[in-house]
Amino acid sequence: MPKPPSKRLLSALSGEALWPPPVWLMRQAGRYLPEYRAVRARAGGFVALCTTPELAAEVTLQPVRRFGMDGAILFSDILILPWALGYDLDFREGEGPVLPPLQDRAAVDRLDPACMGERVAPVLETVRRVRRALGEDAPETALIGFAGAPWTVACYMVEGRGTKEFASPRRMAHAEPALFGALIERLTAATVEYLAAQADAGAEALMLFDSWAGLLPPRLFAEHVVGPARRIRAVLRERCPGVPVIGFPRLAGLGAVAYAEATGVDAVALDTGADLAQIGPMLPARVATQGNLDPMALVAGGDALAAGARDVLAGARGRAHVFNLGHGVVPETPPEHVAELVRLVRGAG
Ligand code: CP3
Repeated sequence: MPKPPSKRLLSALSGEALWPPPVWLMRQAGRYLPEYRAVRARAGGFVALCTTPELAAEVTLQPVRRFGMDGAILFSDILILPWALGYDLDFREGEGPVLPPLQDRAAVDRLDPACMGERVAPVLETVRRVRRALGEDAPETALIGFAGAPWTVACYMVEGRGTKEFASPRRMAHAEPALFGALIERLTAATVEYLAAQADAGAEALMLFDSWAGLLPPRLFAEHVVGPARRIRAVLRERCPGVPVIGFPRLAGLGAVAYAEATGVDAVALDTGADLAQIGPMLPARVATQGNLDPMALVAGGDALAAGARDVLAGARGRAHVFNLGHGVVPETPPEHVAELVRLVRGAG
């Protein structure tokens, strides 16, 4: 057997300081790409797109073909996990996700791991297809699987939709700790199974998205963000040794340092507000970083994009780092700006 080519993304996640750093972008597949919009229209609904392996694999590969990214992230959504546990989920045009607001213990008890196998089967088939296609056409690109972290998934389940505040889950975490703890517990157990299954199907790295981590005060951050991530990381270390985990405690500020120390993640993804030069030296030496260009610098393009990219690269110099955004690519991003960003990173001197 010929030795597989080395994948720069995996080397960086294992702690190697590579220059230039490998690059991929959160939401690199999405509405800013005309070829995504075409496949999305063919799929009908968003859940149908996520659960039709042929289409989900195609949109996963689109940004890899167009830009030659070092990472391909499985095309799915963090809310596919509660849906796989039997929870209702609808994505409405211009409105985002809509779910029944979770209010009581009966709703937690109805989350049914027994129906998960059948509902995640198409997602795992997508992983297998993408891995096979990368092996043939992009052998240096690593496949990233992912899940939402329990707190962020719980935010959408309790609130019933996306908001900037998530008042309902925050109130529930304070006022009904037993109920909220039971929900987090259920989601943590299911997330472990889901991520392990993705690794078994061929995901070479795993990312845990905790988009709303920064909404909690320190004690509840420790309980509902750090605790579950630590448990998930520990079980995955047993179940799929050698598969690195990237944690994204978005908006956590210096909480990202405690998170990196306590969870055992291999890399911590930083949001747009984090100063890499400041936070980098505070992180444990074994932990790689990922991030954190402002998605709006990518929309702006030109000199603003070049300056933003330069800042991130300066902060990443000498570290094991993966170049990315501080949050996802937004729909109004011109695709040529993404091509330009990849050129800027690859040409970094
Ligand atoms: O390219 C990739 O990054 C892979 C696919 C991916 C999607 N969502 C596709 C998607 C990933 C990794 C996610 C993660 C996700 N989903 C998060 C965590 C990261 C973050 O952005 O904070 C969250 C919070 C969600 C929940 C979610 N999904 C919301 C709030 C929305 C509506 C907002 C929007 O952008 O429309 C979605 C829908 C969604 N997920 C889209 C995509 C491409 C757009 C849907 C469409 O095509 O109509």
